[in-house]
Amino acid sequence: MASLTAIQADITTLNVDAIVNAANNTLLGGGGVDGAIHRAAGPQLLAACRRLGGCETGQARITPGFDLPARHVIHTVGPVWHGGGRGEAELLRACYRESLRLAQQHGIHSIAFPGISTGVYGYPADQAADIAVTTVEALVDEPNMPQRVLFCCFSAADLALYDTRLRRQ
Ligand code: APR
Repeated sequence: MASLTAIQADITTLNVDAIVNAANNTLLGGGGVDGAIHRAAGPQLLAACRRLGGCETGQARITPGFDLPARHVIHTVGPVWHGGGRGEAELLRACYRESLRLAQQHGIHSIAFPGISTGVYGYPADQAADIAVTTVEALVDEPNMPQRVLFCCFSAADLALYDTRLRRQ
């Protein structure tokens, strides 16, 4: 039975098999968690990302973690929030699903997610937390899925959203 836990932390500090990056379509870095991950991983991460040639919204790509404590970075591109009428929920669900699929394929046992799309991309944090928890719950008991999933919140308010949802287990 997999463990799903919410924590408040800087995701770049986590010693897990993989951390998930909330990237943009270029995969060439940015601000927010993307910027923090690139700063902590070092320049080799950008070089590796350049070789990937970008990433579609809702898709995910994997690189080594380089100078990070995490062995891998799974880069995924969340939807920009436009009010909910442009398929944002399905695209965000796909980010969690495709990240878990990559983790499954690479034998990753522990994975940490940030709040994908809930910063610059403006996705309402409560709706995003619903999607994150329900999508992970639906997939994580498949064979070879990570058995330790961390929802890495950057604020106490976000942590409370996840705690409420995870306590309903
Ligand atoms: N550790 C964990 N979470 C973090 C960290 C960190 N070091 N830094 C920021 N966050 C949180 C934010 O508080 C937010 O809850 O990550 C969540 C995602 O916010 P963003 O990083 O703004 O990502 P997103 O909303 O998906 O927007 C992606 O922003 O940085 C650019 O290149 C990125 O263009 C892309 C866009």
